[in-house]
Amino acid sequence: MENNLEYRGGENFDLREMLLKGKNLKLNDKVGLFENFIDDLSQHNIMLNRRCITTAADREVIIYDRFSGKEKKLLMFGSNNYLGLANHPYVKDKALDALKKFGAGIGGPPLLNGYTILHRELEERLAALKGAEDALIFSSGYSANVGLVSGLTNPNDIIIYDAFSHASFCDGIKMSNVKSFRFPHNNLNMFKLRLDQNTNTSNDVYVGVEGVYSMDGDTAPLDKIVPLCKSKGAILLVDDAHGTGVLGKHGKGTAEHYGVEGQVDITLGTFSKTFAATGAFVAASKPIINYLRFFARSYMFSASLPPVSIAIVLAGLDVLEKEPQLLDNLRNNIKYAEDSFHKIGIDLNLQTPIIPLKVPVGMDIRKAALKFHQYGIFVNSIEYPAVPISQQRFRVSLMATHKKEDIDKLVEVTNEIWTEFYKNENQTAAKYQFEAA
Ligand SMILES: Cc1ncc(COP(=O)(O)O)c(C=O)c1O
Repeated sequence: MENNLEYRGGENFDLREMLLKGKNLKLNDKVGLFENFIDDLSQHNIMLNRRCITTAADREVIIYDRFSGKEKKLLMFGSNNYLGLANHPYVKDKALDALKKFGAGIGGPPLLNGYTILHRELEERLAALKGAEDALIFSSGYSANVGLVSGLTNPNDIIIYDAFSHASFCDGIKMSNVKSFRFPHNNLNMFKLRLDQNTNTSNDVYVGVEGVYSMDGDTAPLDKIVPLCKSKGAILLVDDAHGTGVLGKHGKGTAEHYGVEGQVDITLGTFSKTFAATGAFVAASKPIINYLRFFARSYMFSASLPPVSIAIVLAGLDVLEKEPQLLDNLRNNIKYAEDSFHKIGIDLNLQTPIIPLKVPVGMDIRKAALKFHQYGIFVNSIEYPAVPISQQRFRVSLMATHKKEDIDKLVEVTNEIWTEFYKNENQTAAKYQFEAA
């Protein structure tokens, strides 16, 4: 089959078209179509995903550069390793201890043989972190969301959720067949309307929001959402994947930040962000956790995380308590980055270490991504359909371990690229223009 889907620059619909076209094709044609597409991208030197890293996930990494065939050093601004725990000596020591004591893995799900004293210790510490009665551990954030939503809800229940919710939450909704209503991102008026419209029912009403939105770095105003849910008897689910270990005085998460610690009915957190490992947890009341152990199928029918992964998260919690300066560094870096970007005409209102560096109108995101790479900066480009077409951006993540000169380099390179690729004759009032959402 002929591939007429050529690369057309940053704002393109290729993947979406590919997906839709593929739905009507048989397997060989479908994968063949995609193969041609990928080849085409590679020929244009614009395939930047899956860069192969040869060192620890630190502020600087070495990658195998497929363009030159050699190793290349990059400053890492694309990792959710917000506190730098991935390469922290204490965390690595604890992981080694666990490896020696418990071996490489466990070979079974938690309800059978896959539950060690470390797993229990971690559940208790995570419950305490979130001010909840108990917690249970999933093997990924994706499986936690899917298991949580499909495990708890009945088809006649209602879920009201923010439009920017993660794919795993949306997939949980699809799997459970529950009735669902989205509200526009962080729009409290629409949220209230949805609550008013849907809470006069004998069925359960759930509300799903994220503590920190992963593509935008803004937060759900839990100080307003919690009382609204309580007043209507709705059950609040907060996915705090990116807030845990980052927000709040002690890094306990978004609820701590908004002064509603212990008031969220069900909190989900992942180990793949601040804790720089993999896995996830759900913290809630004891009865809810006990119920999920048997009815969240992605928990019951999936092998437990190996003890070494659990030890990494336990060590991360120790570091969070013992080294508050890491959180201070992170916050200083966020402020420093905001001020530095402002100096080159890019105004950001950063609440978290996630910088949604929106691509100005007319800029080709793929060519710009290649430039970041060539200048030695590792950032992730987020293209349609991962975000709406008008919202393409580089997702830049700051870490506690970044030095000021790293951030200077990031900003300097951004300035070079923006100047090279952004053609606007009237660059006075608003230096860079962005499309409306
Ligand atoms: C808000 C949110 N929830 C859930 C997940 C899934 O987590 P994991 O990568 O641990 O499966 C992510 C990951 O990107 C996320 O950003």
